[in-house]
Amino acid sequence: MSASSPRVAVVVVAAGSGMRLGAGLPKAFVSLAGATLLEHAVHAVAGMHEAAMVVAVVPGDRVEQTRALIGGLVPASSVVPGGESRQASVAAGLGVLPPCVEVVLVHDAARAFTPSAQFDAVLAAVDATGEGVVPGLPVSDTVKRADAAGFVTGTVDRSELVAVQTPQGFPARVLEAAYRAATREATDDASLVAAIGHPVRVVDGDALAFKVTTPADLRRAEQLLGSPTVLPRIGLGTDTHAFGGEGDLWLAGLPWPGETPLAGHSDGDAVAHAMVDALLSAAGLGDIGSRFGTADPRFAGAHGEVFLTATRDLLADAGWAIGNVSVQLVGTRPRFSARREEAQTVLSGILGAPVSVTATTTDGLGFTGRGEGVTAIATAMVVQRP
Ligand code: CTP
Ligand code: MG
Repeated sequence: MSASSPRVAVVVVAAGSGMRLGAGLPKAFVSLAGATLLEHAVHAVAGMHEAAMVVAVVPGDRVEQTRALIGGLVPASSVVPGGESRQASVAAGLGVLPPCVEVVLVHDAARAFTPSAQFDAVLAAVDATGEGVVPGLPVSDTVKRADAAGFVTGTVDRSELVAVQTPQGFPARVLEAAYRAATREATDDASLVAAIGHPVRVVDGDALAFKVTTPADLRRAEQLLGSPTVLPRIGLGTDTHAFGGEGDLWLAGLPWPGETPLAGHSDGDAVAHAMVDALLSAAGLGDIGSRFGTADPRFAGAHGEVFLTATRDLLADAGWAIGNVSVQLVGTRPRFSARREEAQTVLSGILGAPVSVTATTTDGLGFTGRGEGVTAIATAMVVQRP
């Protein structure tokens, strides 16, 4: 096509109000995955084998906005205000077609995810036959007639039925004649063409050409375009400290008056430190040594809460939300079970996420069994915030 004398035009009707969707704005201007339904529809036209001009028919107060939205998507476009009904909107679009246009495809912007191949197939069939062409799908439900009182009055032979979609394609002169002759409102273009006695044939439609009508349709479209499933990430951390040093024992974020302290640059809280490593590892943010070095005076003698709060902030800044943390203390002392729930409450409060704490011994074996120190093992799960 030369941009000034296109052979094919696609009239994209987008002037409806979208009452059934109820989004508070015209349906074609609802955004999904960073683009409006109208832009998705025009993008599909831009993907056709033969370049076509786009005539976008939109609500009167959105003409300027639409020019800016679609101007760069196709080489030739024009934007006109629509009418009270779909039919009036299509007529408005036909009214601005340049005379060089030989084939017109009429498309609902609401069928925003129609593949470009469906446009190509409809155009090819119009070119091959000179007839009207509608894409359609067989009807899979059993269809019945019912009367006003809700009683079934008959079953329709579904082998004769086709659920039709858009784009519907026609020789331009035929479609114009059909619209000039129209005496009643029709919900599609093929009915008007059939009414003037011109043949219309069906080609295979595509499930992706479904019409976004209700909120459920929009959710389906969201899933279709949705980002690939984001998997959570897990991390593992362990820490060991020997008994020794000065002052009180601090473990699992709690003070343990009268118990032998653990040695370390900080307070030696192996439970808190294992949790920090698990969280940093899950988020891919390094480890406790690289993040909170012993050279940093902020952490000299610091309690677990300081490390955990700093870790929580690091994760939040990098866009991670903490799913949960599970940590196990391995050691013979202190006797942990009486304060297990207290530790969980304190640690969960610091992180703003559930922390489960368990404790065990090693049956007298190894350095924990001999009471030389404690080990803690933690796992954490984090998810990227949307
Ligand atoms: N359409 C139009 N002008 C109208 C009515 C409808 O251009 N006066 C367009 C819609 O924008 C849509 C297509 O025709 O792309 C199919 O119509 P429909 O799905 O019924 O959309 P709406 O009329 O917007 O929705 P509703 O009927 O729920 O209000
Ligand atoms: Mg409507």
